[in-house]
Amino acid sequence: MYSTLIGNYTKETNFFHTTNPFELLEKYSSPLYVYNEDIFRSKLRQIKNLVKYKNFIPHYSVKANTNIHLLKIVKEEGLHVDTMSPGEIFMALAAGFDPSELFYIPNNATIEDLNYAIERGVLISVDSVSQLQLYAKLNPNSNVAVRFNPGVGAGHHDKVVTAGKKTKFGVNMDEFETVKKIIAENNLNLVGINQHIGSLFMDNNAFIESTTNLLDFAKSFASLEFIDLGGGFGIPYHKQSGEKPLDLVDLGIKLDEMFNQFNAEYGREICFQIEPGRFISCEAGIILGTVTGLKQNAHTTYLGCDIGFNVLARPIMYDSYHDIEIYTQRDQPDLIKYPMNVVGNICESGDIIAKDRELPHCHYGDIIAIMDAGAYGFAMSSSYNQRPRTAEILITSSGDEKVIRRRETFENLIENML
Ligand code: LLP
Repeated sequence: MYSTLIGNYTKETNFFHTTNPFELLEKYSSPLYVYNEDIFRSKLRQIKNLVKYKNFIPHYSVKANTNIHLLKIVKEEGLHVDTMSPGEIFMALAAGFDPSELFYIPNNATIEDLNYAIERGVLISVDSVSQLQLYAKLNPNSNVAVRFNPGVGAGHHDKVVTAGKKTKFGVNMDEFETVKKIIAENNLNLVGINQHIGSLFMDNNAFIESTTNLLDFAKSFASLEFIDLGGGFGIPYHKQSGEKPLDLVDLGIKLDEMFNQFNAEYGREICFQIEPGRFISCEAGIILGTVTGLKQNAHTTYLGCDIGFNVLARPIMYDSYHDIEIYTQRDQPDLIKYPMNVVGNICESGDIIAKDRELPHCHYGDIIAIMDAGAYGFAMSSSYNQRPRTAEILITSSGDEKVIRRRETFENLIENML
């Protein structure tokens, strides 16, 4: 038995089913990524049912979490996938997706990258005039898509805003004559255009505004079969302070109206796509770690644990906030909370997971759990400081726990050094 000193997300969602965090760490060791299949499937279904519009194909953006077991669930739920590198294409095909269910949206692709997709029959979206020229040379007389910059960006941090004036992504709309010329000269068929304004919007306005711009602009191309509106759908990282989820009902109603109106003006029905990553996998994953102890330096209390930025890079990379839960098996835990910095075991002072977080006094062996870690968590982890990457466990819908990735070993650290 254990008690939860802070947080209730895992209790409310029955995250651990019949197992519990102490059993999991004892069996699979610490730290550990744990996913819940029910939550993952429910998020996939929310996205599938976003609009009433029939010709709608949501893609899961595999960069958020590329574990093949999760990709197989995505396939079972009937979504397609968007990919951004040959490695992601490789994983999606290995998970059983047909090349026609993949969309490849690279940035600064090499000839080798482009050829990898071309040889496998995966549709490519290019995101600059020079990349379109390169693609045209490699694969004339073919279908192609172009990623445009709709002029409006959004995101939780400057580093993830991918449209507007300060980004390397997308073709500017005023370059469309050049795009048309290259397309005509090489007998390419522009089957789709796409955007991705950035990652994590909680207010629908920027997405609606950029989509309005893109749909207006799309009317200047006669051959479109689809328009892809990108990802960026946010999740509430501050659930413990009552943050509400994204209003998908409002978004769905607005998109339905826009899609129908577009078709009426365009003169035929086309397919609409979106490509969320975080929205689907984020809340389905948490990280369990071991509290190693408390320490005081001047006026700051440090709560040490074994979750460093090798395990979760988001806090040091973007100052990202993640809710934290604490579990204990002690009989009489101290429940008074005070602010502390939660820090990992990496040899850098910047290795801080949470700053000034109000938490109760913890002891060695208590468990710290980082919420909302299923997107850009394991995918961005590393073996820095020669800490092998963690295992990943899936709690299935029937309540069983399944190892979906083994913990790396010291041998894995050395095996490619010849
Ligand atoms: N489509 C394209 C073209 C993208 O570049 C991305 C994300 C997505 C879709 C999916 O975005 P999402 O729905 O997951 O927001 N590492 C950062 C996020 C980087 C997102 C990069 N591109 C983080 O941890 O917040």
